[in-house]
Amino acid sequence: MENVDNWQTKISVQQKQKIMSLVETFNKPCPRYTSYPTAKQFIPLEGSEEQIEESELYAELDGNLKTVSLYLHIPFCQQLCYYCGCHKFITQNKEKGQTYLNYLIKEIEQRAPSLPAEVQVTDIHLGGGTPTFLSDEQLQSLANALKANFNISDKCEWAIELDPRTVDSTRINNIIDIGFNRFSLGIQDFNDKTQIAINRQQSYQSIESLILAIRQRQAATTNFSINFDLVYGLPHQNQQTFMQTLENVVSLNPDRIAMFNYAHMPSMFPSQAKIKQADLPNAQLKVAILIDAINYLEMNGYRQVGLDHFVKADDNLYLAQQNETLIRNFQGYADSDTQVMLGFGVSAISDYSVAMLQNDKHLKSYYQAIDQKQTAFVKALFRSNDDKQRESLIHHLLCHLTLPIQQIPLSDYVEEWVQLKVFERQGLVKIEADKIQVSQIGQIFIRNIAQVFDSYNKLSHVKGFSNAI
Ligand SMILES: C[S@@+](CC[C@H](N)C(=O)[O-])C[C@H]1O[C@@H](n2cnc3c(N)ncnc32)[C@H](O)[C@@H]1O
Ligand code: SF4
Repeated sequence: MENVDNWQTKISVQQKQKIMSLVETFNKPCPRYTSYPTAKQFIPLEGSEEQIEESELYAELDGNLKTVSLYLHIPFCQQLCYYCGCHKFITQNKEKGQTYLNYLIKEIEQRAPSLPAEVQVTDIHLGGGTPTFLSDEQLQSLANALKANFNISDKCEWAIELDPRTVDSTRINNIIDIGFNRFSLGIQDFNDKTQIAINRQQSYQSIESLILAIRQRQAATTNFSINFDLVYGLPHQNQQTFMQTLENVVSLNPDRIAMFNYAHMPSMFPSQAKIKQADLPNAQLKVAILIDAINYLEMNGYRQVGLDHFVKADDNLYLAQQNETLIRNFQGYADSDTQVMLGFGVSAISDYSVAMLQNDKHLKSYYQAIDQKQTAFVKALFRSNDDKQRESLIHHLLCHLTLPIQQIPLSDYVEEWVQLKVFERQGLVKIEADKIQVSQIGQIFIRNIAQVFDSYNKLSHVKGFSNAI
């Protein structure tokens, strides 16, 4: 393999040295800001408050609500991946899937009528857990329930997270027949030693055959999109092993790549304790892996979008970043024209712009709430005006790597300006006449830069989040 440092790269050798010298300073707990305020700030709803009327939340939007996204959480997986930080239950019992589906459909039927009939659904996302824990027939009945209860746009994007170990080309064809056109495959890493250490073994050949099945159908029908999820910072990874993974990834030519920073928090996710600390790459090595990955993917036709996404130059996400219409949401980044997302199923979060509400995480109490024809909301956050302003700043930074100066008046953001000047001296941002521009070096530390505007999780004393690096 060639030495990456010899390439004409996006991040130069000098920039890399500077980044390395800042790693220890910024390797602190820091949110990923898929929402602001973060889910940690949600407040438990007590007693009667739990019965929040969604129609009242829609009314707050003053008739400006034209489109919504839907998120459906399928919480079951057959096997535990040790690194996993998602909300899931490990089971082999497929009957649990049918019981859950019945309740999920009931929740849809109970909540959908309060959404004004003219509001269209433009994005549907099935996530988990493992959506393909459900059989094709079960997925079909879920799709039927969505179509029967919502006004779904003809151009709607139907996305599904696919655990490659649970599907074959026959299933792929069935899933396409149901109407899915966005496929997100959990790849994580192709290296055998890493796969064993995370308890998730899947071969290159098995992924290749799934891609072929999707691409064959794509030739005959509409424009599909394939996303790969990768994770850097996993056990036994180093620059060489991860570069081999990336070579495999590029040879399979996905349209999008989400390259997540491994969030290691065994106190919150006990299965992560099965991963030995000594096998994990340290912060310096993680950043070296990340820089190599950015340079390699950029040289192979991908463009970095925001924090952790890489897409082709003609992809809607990249165009949205260029046009400043990109949004950040619980699924990461999107080019959707709506911030309103309705979440269904255990632990799912609904974002109504004025407020965010989270469903019960436990199956039993979720089922009880649905049986009693109640919503399953147990936590909420009503955004104040200050929350809205800070959310707009944080998401503008994470999406577009700039901030218009007029949005951060000195009188309202004294402490923030002091910190921004420190970042400027460190080479993370450039303060220009009309805007703050995040530098190439700053992009690596973009979570830390965004954190300056977080009034709940100040830089100095934040706990309960994964490290920024
Ligand atoms: C909610 S999971 C569901 C995907 C599907 N169950 C699968 O594994 O193929 C979505 C993605 O989150 C990422 N992920 C899970 N745990 C993580 C962690 N602790 N740190 C960073 N990323 C993680 C993985 O890349 C995974 O594919
Ligand atoms: S990574 Fe995916 S398959 Fe593995 S335990 Fe988590 S949700 Fe389940």
